[in-house]
Amino acid sequence: MGSSSSLTEVYRGLELDPSDRLPAFADVNDRAVSLGVMSKAYGLAGLRIGWIATHDERLFRELAAFKDYATICNSAPSEFLATIALRHTGVIVERNLRIIRDNLDRLDAFFGSHADKFGWYRPKAGSMAFPALLLGDVDEFCTDLVEKAGVTTKQIMALISATLPEIRFSIVTSALLSLLTSFDEVIVENAGYRITVPAIPLALRS
Ligand SMILES: Cc1ncc(COP(=O)(O)O)c(C=O)c1O
Repeated sequence: MGSSSSLTEVYRGLELDPSDRLPAFADVNDRAVSLGVMSKAYGLAGLRIGWIATHDERLFRELAAFKDYATICNSAPSEFLATIALRHTGVIVERNLRIIRDNLDRLDAFFGSHADKFGWYRPKAGSMAFPALLLGDVDEFCTDLVEKAGVTTKQIMALISATLPEIRFSIVTSALLSLLTSFDEVIVENAGYRITVPAIPLALRS
C-alpha cells in the first residue's frame, strides 16, 4: 500500500477574501486526507466533533475501523448540534469573520502605532495572529506575559521562526483587550516605554 498525506484544514472558510480559499486537499489528490473540526471556523470547540475526508476508500475504512477501536461513539448531542451548525455554515462563519475583521482593524491600529516594537502582518485568513517582537527575546517576553502579567499559556505562544521571533495568539479571544494591556505592562517593565492600548472596546467572541 502506498503512502498518503493529510492536511489539517481547520481554518478553511475563514479567508477574509473568499478568492483566497484553496481547494480541499482531499479533492486535489486521490490519496490525500483532509481534516476538519468544529472548533475553529465554527468556533464550537466544546462539541469536540471533527472529521476526515478522503477519496481513498480503503484508507477511509482503516481510519473508521481505528476510530471504532479507540472510542465507542461520539457524543450524540454534540453530533446533533454539529449537524445543525453545519447546515447553517454561512451564518456562523460570517459572524466569526465579522469578529475577526473588527478585531483585526483594532490590531492594525495597535501594531501600526508601535511599528518600532512589533512587526505586524495582517493575516489573510484564520483566527490566529503572529506579530513579531522586534525588541528583546520572544521567549522572555512570553514568559513575562505569563509570570508577571497573568496571561495564560493557552493564550500566547512564543514562536521562533526562520525569519523573526513571533508571538502566536488568538484574534477572537474575549481576553484580547487584556492581552494587549499585558503587552503594554511587559514592554513598559522591560523596555521602559509605554504602548497605548486602544480605548475602543474590542469585538469579543460573544
Ligand atoms: C491546526 C490544528 N489542527 C487541529 C486542531 C484540533 O482541533 P480540536 O481542538 O477541535 O481538536 C487544532 C486545534 O488547536 C489546530 O490548531
